[in-house]
Amino acid sequence: MKTIESRYDASAEAYRTWWEPVLAPTALDLLDRHERTAGQPVGRVVDVGTGAGLLAIEAVRRWPAVQVSGLDGSAVMLGIAEAAARDALGTPALRRISWLRGQAERLPFEDQTIDLVVSSFAYQLVPRLTVALGEAFRVLRPGGRLAFVTWRIADIRFAPDDAFEDVLDELDLGDEAGDAEEARAGDLASAGATARRLRRIGFRSVLTREAWLTHDHDPATYLDFLEGYAERELFAEIEPDQRARLRDGTTERLARLRPAAFRWRVPVVHALARRPESIERGP
Ligand SMILES: C[S@@+](CC[C@H](N)C(=O)[O-])C[C@H]1O[C@@H](n2cnc3c(N)ncnc32)[C@H](O)[C@@H]1O
Repeated sequence: MKTIESRYDASAEAYRTWWEPVLAPTALDLLDRHERTAGQPVGRVVDVGTGAGLLAIEAVRRWPAVQVSGLDGSAVMLGIAEAAARDALGTPALRRISWLRGQAERLPFEDQTIDLVVSSFAYQLVPRLTVALGEAFRVLRPGGRLAFVTWRIADIRFAPDDAFEDVLDELDLGDEAGDAEEARAGDLASAGATARRLRRIGFRSVLTREAWLTHDHDPATYLDFLEGYAERELFAEIEPDQRARLRDGTTERLARLRPAAFRWRVPVVHALARRPESIERGP
């Protein structure tokens, strides 16, 4: 079985091109929500599961008094993040950002040394989410904050994917080719369950909200998205003649769908919380 790191190592470049733009508006909204609740942070910020550096780079750009560490288990992702930061930031801002290989369940920081932990679309991949959130609690200074967003559990049908599955069935490609879906043990049951989990760990001022991530895929480029990112391994593994049939069949099926069918809409949970200054009782 592939590890999460090897999966992201292998898809890092494609991730930045195809998937980060889908997540970006919702991920960046997390920073707005944090700011509305707690104001601009100062001090040390960690972005857990930074990927191509989306939140880390934006944190440095919008918050002049922070030092940011982008942490990820995938070395290749961190290389992409570093290059993205060099493209996006000037030298003074670059001095306030660093990249670190590490695990959400074992954060490489001393107790009570971090002012803000942020994370977008990474905690769903952590097998033991309570351990990872406990780690965020451990490294936060008293009064420090946690802000994260990830998927809520949902079984959503998306017509373009169904169309693609139909073509796979027709070509008898089924489940044999390609890669199994990534495990997402940490998808959140609901905003309420997330709030209860955070309070049990010891967080206070907990604010969780469900929201919808929507993305309008483009009928003209959805096949490119499948081939370039979502079904990359499958397309790479099959024989050239099968690949051509898969492309043709998918193009034909996608053309039958209305443009509105390409709107992808999936629920997420935003969570904000604070490590208390001292032992506080009650919710
Ligand atoms: C879906 S990407 C999200 C990246 C970025 N936060 C964004 O919103 O674009 C998930 C990232 O989390 C990283 N990751 C997964 N499990 C992790 C873990 N246990 N510890 C650290 N990073 C992890 C992956 O390597 C990947 O870069």
